[in-house]
Amino acid sequence: MAADNRRLGVLISGRGSNLQAIIDAIADRRLDATIAVVISNIDGAGGLERARCAGIETLTMSHRGWPSRDDYDRALVGELRKREVRLVCLAGFMRKFGAPLIEAFPNAVLNIHPSLLPSFPGLHAQQQALDHGVKASGVTVHFVTRDLDDGPIIVQRVVPVLDDDSEESLAARILVEEHRAYPDAIGLVLDGGWRIEGRRVIRSTAAAAV
Ligand code: GRF
Repeated sequence: MAADNRRLGVLISGRGSNLQAIIDAIADRRLDATIAVVISNIDGAGGLERARCAGIETLTMSHRGWPSRDDYDRALVGELRKREVRLVCLAGFMRKFGAPLIEAFPNAVLNIHPSLLPSFPGLHAQQQALDHGVKASGVTVHFVTRDLDDGPIIVQRVVPVLDDDSEESLAARILVEEHRAYPDAIGLVLDGGWRIEGRRVIRSTAAAAV
């Protein structure tokens, strides 16, 4: 595959609003990329319909019934490779990966998480932020490693926490930023001009000026 391959594989489990944000960013030419396939591990996930409406190939691959987690991951890798996917974007994909996917796509699996990592990994990140009493939370897009919600950070955006916030209201305001941050992070990774030093994603001066 040519070096200018900008083909994405988007993995979802649910409503797919981040998937929609990526679809919209591509349609509006804010993001130069192609979604080669959307894969859901949940039959009937709302995001599948969004993909179909945009004319994108969809695949449902249940995670159940495989001899092991790695077998499922290997099958996913097979489907992504078949479609010459360069970058795998987890968009509300509610499963942890083993080695096969990460090794098949080194520094090419992204995840979006609704907090400023490393604060509040895991489920209910917005409620965790409220419970802790932080005054600001936000969104993180990061490379996926073996550890949950870990991995070098590509983009973060801050969202204030208001005194009268509920989990729902905070989640809704963070989601607005998610929908901006994910296309930005995907574009940044596809454009290149960055390197990873330790845990840091560092952009070259020329790339950072854009
Ligand atoms: C988002 O809040 C994302 O940060 C988290 O799961 C949620 C998925 O939402 N990983 P959607 O399916 O993209 O609407």
